[in-house]
Amino acid sequence: MRQSIRVLAAALAAAGFVAGVDLRAQDTEGANRVLPWAYVLNEPVENADTPDPDEIVTVPGSSVSMPRSAININDGPPDWHPDAHPPMPEVVARGGGEGVVACGYCHLPNGQGKPENAGVAGQPYEYIVQQMTDWRNGLRRPGEPRMGPPAFMERIGLATTDAEARVAAEYFSSIDFKPWVRVVETDAVPKTRFAGWIHEVIEGGGLEPIGTRVVETPEDLTRTKLRDDASGFIAYVPSGAVGRGRRIVLTGGDNSVACTTCHGPDLRGLGPVPALAGRSPSYMARQLYDLQTGLRDGAWSDLMDAAVENLTLEDIVNIVAYTASLEP
Ligand code: HEC
Ligand code: HEC
Repeated sequence: MRQSIRVLAAALAAAGFVAGVDLRAQDTEGANRVLPWAYVLNEPVENADTPDPDEIVTVPGSSVSMPRSAININDGPPDWHPDAHPPMPEVVARGGGEGVVACGYCHLPNGQGKPENAGVAGQPYEYIVQQMTDWRNGLRRPGEPRMGPPAFMERIGLATTDAEARVAAEYFSSIDFKPWVRVVETDAVPKTRFAGWIHEVIEGGGLEPIGTRVVETPEDLTRTKLRDDASGFIAYVPSGAVGRGRRIVLTGGDNSVACTTCHGPDLRGLGPVPALAGRSPSYMARQLYDLQTGLRDGAWSDLMDAAVENLTLEDIVNIVAYTASLEP
C-alpha cells in the first residue's frame, strides 16, 4: 500500500494540490488535506445566530411537528415520515447499550444517510454485519480523524454488540435505497463553506472553479438541518467526469480494474458486495481513499486492492461522479 500512497501523492503534487505534504504522515498525524471536499472540517463560525429552541417546526409532506429543540436528540431523532419506512427497531430509533447512539440520528430513519455519513438503506445484510464487525475489531479507521462523524461512527462501531448490529442490519437491508443525489456537471460551482460537516452554499457568494473536486450540498439546507429524510443532495462534478468515470468503472481504465464484476452490472450490489449506484460521492471518495491507504482494512477489504492501488485523485473524482449519477 505504501507504493500506492506515493503514486497518489505524486499525482497530487503534480496537480499542485498538496505540494510538500507527506501523505504517509496520515496514519499517525491524521492531517488529511488530500480530499478536503470529502473529509469536511467545519470552519470557525462567526456571530452564530441561535434559533429559538421553542419554535415549532415541520417539513413539507409531513403531519408531524415539534419544537426545534427536539431535532438534535441523538437518542430519539425526528421521524418526519413514519409511514414511508418500516417500524424502526429500538437500536435505530433510540439507540442501544452504552455508547450505541440511535443509528437513525445520522443515517436518518429511512437509512438514506448524508454526505458526512453513509446511505445504509438497501445494502446487503451480510455486508452491514461485516462492517460492524470490522469496526468492533478496529479495522475501519477514517482518513481524517478530525472529521467528527466518521470518528463518532468508529466509537459507535466499537460499542455495538453483534446482536444490535444484526437487528440494525436487518432493518436497513430491508429498505430500498431511493434516488437521493442529483449530479450536475459544471466548470463553476457556488462558493461553499464548511459547516455541520458538509458544504453549505454561501448565499450571494458567487461562483468559483470546481477544480478536481466534488461539491455535494443539500437540495434544501433548511430541511437537511431538520434531519428530513425526504430531502436529498446535489453533487456538482467537473464537466466530463461522469463519462470518464464510466470508462473506469466498466473497463478499469488505465489505473484500475472493472468494478462491475463484483459490484454488479449496474453497481447495485451483488450478493454481499455493496451497492454504489446513486449513493453519496463524498462518502464513496472517502472509502476509496481509506481503502487505498489501508486505513480501512476489514475482512473483505483485500478484494478492493487491485481496484484502488493506483487510483489518482482525478480517478476518484471521476469514479464517484459516475457512481452517484446512476439510478440506485
Ligand atoms: C453520529 C453519527 C452516526 C451514528 C449515530 C451511526 N452512524 Fe453509522 N456511520 C456514520 C458515519 C459518519 C459513517 C461513514 C464513515 C466514513 O465516512 O468512513 C457511517 C457508516 C456506517 C456504515 C457503513 C456503510 C457502508 O456502506 O459501508 C454502516 C454499516 C453503519 N454506519 C451502521 C450504523 C449502525 C448500525 C448504527 C447504529 C448502531 C450507526 N451506524 C450509527 C455515522 C453514524
Ligand atoms: C474483486 C471484487 C471487487 C472489485 C473488482 C471491485 N470491488 Fe469495490 N468492493 C468489493 C468488496 C468486497 C467491498 C467491501 C470491502 C470491505 O468490506 O472492506 C468493496 C467496497 C467498495 C467500496 C466501499 C463501499 C461502501 O459502501 O463503503 C467502494 C466505494 C468500492 N468498492 C468501489 C469500487 C470501484 C470504484 C471499483 C472499480 C474501480 C471496485 N470497487 C471494484 C469488491 C470489489
